[in-house]
Amino acid sequence: MGTGTSKDADGVAHDESDDRDGSLDQAGGQLYVSLKMENYKLNGKIIPHVYGSVPLVGSWDPCKALSMERESASMWELSFVVPPNHETLDFKFLLKPKYGSAPCVIEEGAHRVLSRGALQGESRLAVFRNGEETLEHKIFIKADQVSPFDLAASWRAYQENLRPSTVRGIPDVSINSAPIAGAENGSSASLELDLEHYLVPAPSTSANSGMVYAANNAENPRFTITDAAWYNSYSFKDASISSDRPPTYKGIEVVIPDPSKAYPGTGMVDSKSVGTFSPLQRQDSHRGLFVDRGVGSPRLPKSPSSSTFTFDLKHEAATKNLMPAAAGAVAAAAVADQMLGPKEDKHLAIVLVGLPARGKTFTAAKLTRYLRWLGHNTKHFNVGKYRRIKHGTIQNADFFRGDNPEGVEARNEVAALAMEDMIAWMQEGGQVGIFDATNSTRERRNMLMKMAEGNCKIIFLETLCNDKRIIERNIRLKIQQSPDYSEQPDFEAGYEDFKSRLDNYEKVYEPVEEGSYIKMIDMVSGNGGQIQVNNISGYLPGRIVFFLVNMHLTPRPILLTRHGESRYNVRSRIGGDSLLSDTGEIYSKKLSNFVEKRLKSEKAASIWTSTLQRTILTAGPIVGFPKIQWRALDEINSGVCDGMTYEEIKRNMPEEYESRKKDKLRYRYPRGESYLDVIQRLEPVIIELERQRAPVVVISHQAVLRALYAYFADRPLKEIPHIEMPLHTIIEIQMGVTGVQEKRYKLMD
Ligand code: F6P
Repeated sequence: MGTGTSKDADGVAHDESDDRDGSLDQAGGQLYVSLKMENYKLNGKIIPHVYGSVPLVGSWDPCKALSMERESASMWELSFVVPPNHETLDFKFLLKPKYGSAPCVIEEGAHRVLSRGALQGESRLAVFRNGEETLEHKIFIKADQVSPFDLAASWRAYQENLRPSTVRGIPDVSINSAPIAGAENGSSASLELDLEHYLVPAPSTSANSGMVYAANNAENPRFTITDAAWYNSYSFKDASISSDRPPTYKGIEVVIPDPSKAYPGTGMVDSKSVGTFSPLQRQDSHRGLFVDRGVGSPRLPKSPSSSTFTFDLKHEAATKNLMPAAAGAVAAAAVADQMLGPKEDKHLAIVLVGLPARGKTFTAAKLTRYLRWLGHNTKHFNVGKYRRIKHGTIQNADFFRGDNPEGVEARNEVAALAMEDMIAWMQEGGQVGIFDATNSTRERRNMLMKMAEGNCKIIFLETLCNDKRIIERNIRLKIQQSPDYSEQPDFEAGYEDFKSRLDNYEKVYEPVEEGSYIKMIDMVSGNGGQIQVNNISGYLPGRIVFFLVNMHLTPRPILLTRHGESRYNVRSRIGGDSLLSDTGEIYSKKLSNFVEKRLKSEKAASIWTSTLQRTILTAGPIVGFPKIQWRALDEINSGVCDGMTYEEIKRNMPEEYESRKKDKLRYRYPRGESYLDVIQRLEPVIIELERQRAPVVVISHQAVLRALYAYFADRPLKEIPHIEMPLHTIIEIQMGVTGVQEKRYKLMD
């Protein structure tokens, strides 16, 4: 088998196998064929093409010729695999514009013939004659017999001009502390890096709302204030419960499917409207389970209670909401809960408990963001928001006294209103409600537990903090940010009032000892502390505990950037494992300068990359920080489309192209991944980013960074595949006690 090249008397390079005895002619195995044309002059408008017999193109129509790709400034290349027992391959080179066929110049001379791995005839220059003008280009043809395994392992290297990778074999964790000598185009000396100079505005929908009080992002009360129906039926005096819960929900139209209109073989049925039911009735009468399998027609399971299929289109939204828009473990857990768990387990209420200024609202906001990102339909219900609507923003400390019956009653009433809203939302498909209030007495918690009966499972989440400095910081933030003090111009007066509000709460505070609970004791600083869990089981509660153990509010930046421009980016090819282009290499040096400057006082910072060359090479010039490779940070796996351009996918696999266009979030490349798959595999990365206390620079890829960014910016799942994620731009996420803020630096165009 010929692997080398030699030059003949005319100086024309050709495959050594030609000179030997047809050594490629071995049983017609699978061939990897590489055709190259040397050409310094082509300007990119006229491109070398190849056309010919099966299995190359199967047509001598110049319109169908395959375009060669620019491999370097002077070399064009086309490589392909010829199946085992292939036909004789005959072909020719031609010059023509990328799209369209004219003007088209076909090489002179006979067809080039490759038969059973051996090239027949001499390997000659390609000669093109266009009127008076004659062009001669050197041709290099290689045909190697390869096993499928070799092929898989080597194709990427071939794509990279047979150049061995410069990064393979480096350990998962590395640190290069030596300064880089003589860096071209981007050395510290040649790159003036004034951070402010590179600052660009973040898009308006992004995470630039860090100064917004977290509670303000909570669910807006749905009820304009009427009295809380349920609350009025509840007697606190004897702590008994009225058995008739007033019907506070409006009837909702429900459609029952007409089985006679079932679509044969699909289990799908037409639906018709037959009347109105309360949401509770509605739930009971619909036990059909819709499992979202991604793109395509829904596959509908049979109702366990009847021989018909239970599915209706209007009900789809509600039922679908019970299923998270998620993949893998999250979806599996949701299905298991749907099928096996008690009814109320389908809905989970995380009920915060704690004195004011213990970080409850920030914990609630963070947890909401995390669960939403995983695909759980989650909402934050802040009782303070209800109180402000019902009773106004200005309530002095007396309103919060435990021995002020009107105050206690008013507060219980707004808590019941918020709980009613939350349950109503769950009955419309909401999955996890985060109920944010002090809930600091047993009596209040009893009321909530009674309301939850038959509707949702409650887990109390108590935040206890004994660190006086943290409490003091939280109090100050509260005076600055809470709408409760927005009309109090005098900081000191606000401060005094809030301190006596706190005293009032402390007098009646009863720690949680009942039901299922998670107690976080002195954990907000991220310096240890304690977490106690009682009577907690199940997938989601387990994930919540894990998240809470790892999160903290220590401020630190997280820098997100794509790798520098890759050779595949230049050729509009997706996936692959290509090297950086020249521009990409310049970015890697600029990035290194940026990181050096931005993190110069951050000894413990670290650099995270994927395991693909383009991110590792982008991190290359950065010195002095540990570099960690994560497989989870690899680009979305585009499966059989890996290495193609979008144009090629559209042309060769139009159904795949259309399916992805229709639902980019759920669409899974054949033998590859969907965005939902990517989100799923990024969860450990998010947990680790939450847990880290020092800055982290994440150098990854477009799809992966969209998913990570959406977490910090709290962007809905459906938007993730469409988030703008430009090259050569750093998104700095500042994590802190007030939430998340964003800055963007564009280092290059
Ligand atoms: O084109 C660069 C790239 O990182 C590809 O490797 C990847 O398939 C693609 O972006 C992801 O973006 P999209 O989901 O928009 O195709």
